[in-house]
Amino acid sequence: MKQAEPPLRHALVAQTLGAVLAAGMILVFFPTLLAQPLAMAGVQGLCAALISHLQRGPLWWLPIHLGFMPLAVVMQGLRIPSWIWLAGFTLLLLIFWRTDRSRVPLYLTNALAGEALAGLLPVEPVAMVDLGCGDGGLLRRLARLRPDCRFVGYEHAPLPWAWAWLSCRSLPNVQIRFGDFWACPLGGYALVYAFLSPSPMRELWAKAKAEMKANALLVSNSFAVPDVQPLSTIQVADRRHTRLYCYRPGPSRS
Ligand SMILES: C[S@@+](CC[C@H](N)C(=O)[O-])C[C@H]1O[C@@H](n2cnc3c(N)ncnc32)[C@H](O)[C@@H]1O
Repeated sequence: MKQAEPPLRHALVAQTLGAVLAAGMILVFFPTLLAQPLAMAGVQGLCAALISHLQRGPLWWLPIHLGFMPLAVVMQGLRIPSWIWLAGFTLLLLIFWRTDRSRVPLYLTNALAGEALAGLLPVEPVAMVDLGCGDGGLLRRLARLRPDCRFVGYEHAPLPWAWAWLSCRSLPNVQIRFGDFWACPLGGYALVYAFLSPSPMRELWAKAKAEMKANALLVSNSFAVPDVQPLSTIQVADRRHTRLYCYRPGPSRS
């Protein structure tokens, strides 16, 4: 998937230039700080946040840049064995995979939104795909509600995929596929469901328009397609006031 700006590179540039700037400032103006690692880290954090701001990074990155190096110094002092860091990093990677590229983290459709989605399935047996199916919980729920329909889920993060695959094995009308949903042809589905983030919505719309059949429904949980009027919007009566944006991107029948 193409992204305008890789966030990892952006963050790395801010942190590195922040370190260079902080080192220069400390050497020239505050040499007494050289004996105080936490204070040096604090200056680096300030410089990194400043550089991120100059790069027009998102505002919510500022506290992350401010706190990253000071926290690293504090944690270093705790003398936690290094394998714990590696284990933590590996676990997060297996759960979230390349969120830095996809810009789609893991969060799950709740039961009420799942019920509202089930209400959007046509009365006849159809196939539905969940683009990025997470732990497969939504598909399990739908498969039980509609045993006449076929449900497919794509997931690229290894742990959620493994969980989804294992937990859906007993459901004959669910198929969990490991991989990138951008490679999934959408032509065979009457309903395409996406719970992603604002970032891929334009690209998803282009794919849906090119591939989805007339009358097939694209439903996006929480994230509207920019500049496209939805066919309808369903307000779910849950605590987070979920909205399901419904579109028919396929060729219109006249
Ligand atoms: C917000 S979660 C939604 C999970 C599930 N659809 C639900 O509603 O409960 C989005 C999921 O999409 C997955 N994902 C993001 N980009 C993907 C891609 N290109 N291919 C496959 N899965 C992807 C993420 O790993 C994450 O598990």
